[in-house]
Amino acid sequence: MTQTLSSTSTKSPVTVLGLGPMGRALAAAFVEAGHPTTVWNRTSGKAAELEKRGAAVAATAAEAAAASPLVIVCVLDNDALRAVTAPAAEALRGRTLLNLTSNAADHARETAAWAAEHGIDHLDGTIMTPTITIGGPDAVYLYSGPEELYERHRATLAALGGTGTYLGADPGLAGAYDASLLGFFWTAVTGYVHALALARAEGVELTDLAPFAQNLGSLMASVTHVFAEDVEKGRYEGDESNIRSVRAGLAHVLHAAEGKGLDNTVLRAAKALTDRAVADGHGEAAISRLVETVAEPAS
Ligand SMILES: NC(=O)c1ccc[n+]([C@@H]2O[C@H](COP(=O)([O-])OP(=O)(O)OC[C@H]3O[C@@H](n4cnc5c(N)ncnc54)[C@H](OP(=O)(O)O)[C@@H]3O)[C@@H](O)[C@H]2O)c1
Repeated sequence: MTQTLSSTSTKSPVTVLGLGPMGRALAAAFVEAGHPTTVWNRTSGKAAELEKRGAAVAATAAEAAAASPLVIVCVLDNDALRAVTAPAAEALRGRTLLNLTSNAADHARETAAWAAEHGIDHLDGTIMTPTITIGGPDAVYLYSGPEELYERHRATLAALGGTGTYLGADPGLAGAYDASLLGFFWTAVTGYVHALALARAEGVELTDLAPFAQNLGSLMASVTHVFAEDVEKGRYEGDESNIRSVRAGLAHVLHAAEGKGLDNTVLRAAKALTDRAVADGHGEAAISRLVETVAEPAS
């Protein structure tokens, strides 16, 4: 292992396994904050810049894990997480494995069980902001698992910047937030992608459209709490706007999009939900009641 970082650092050592764009950003933040940082990646050649800045580059995941009390894994998906951690299980024993790979709740709980079998302390987490935020004030991290572990590493994790929120002892909580929030984000992004395709087909200048899309984005932000409270209380009064009205809106958008020969999968799916809600007698209810339609899939 090449070790170029000063061994006199008083900061706790950290290991980062996985040097995709996010793993590299995490490792860079630790190096920047003065933590002795050891890195490893399946494919070599991704650590050159980090090595220049002072990170130690390990030859294997096990060697990297053995270098630090806190070992962070940030790779493509759950299969990659397994592929990286399984051969390093012995080296991870007695250390904290923090998974920052985006993951589903059940996968996180499986990782927790696997870690417990191998004498590894496991904490799960997810990153809700892009690489450019890492180390700065806008980064957002969610953590779940044993609170004592989170507290033990909190000072080290502060090097990642932004806001870290501890969600609770269930290791699956970070994954539950991750899947719910990314489902929201990616379907919203897909809706915007469709809007751009339709506007272009109509001959609209897309940069002229963008400011109005931004306004709708702000509107979306303002309804997030209102919807959450409606659903928590089971209160769906459609005085201001109701599902029947939204369905009519979606029908006209779909009409416009079909006239342009686009792939309208996303719109059809959205309209199908409102069709079913109306057919079930909920046309006069608030839009937030669609949560119940989603929760009761058509038989
Ligand atoms: N990029 C972002 O802005 C962002 C934002 C929030 C959350 N995240 C999350 O952060 C995680 C990592 O994302 P990323 O942006 O760094 O890129 P990524 O493309 O999701 O992951 C790339 C990393 O995964 C490794 N990998 C893939 N398959 C592997 C396998 N079978 N065995 C071992 N390693 C494997 C790659 O190694 P090789 O180099 O050897 O292929 C590389 O280190 C993901 O869960 C992502 O959802 C990313």
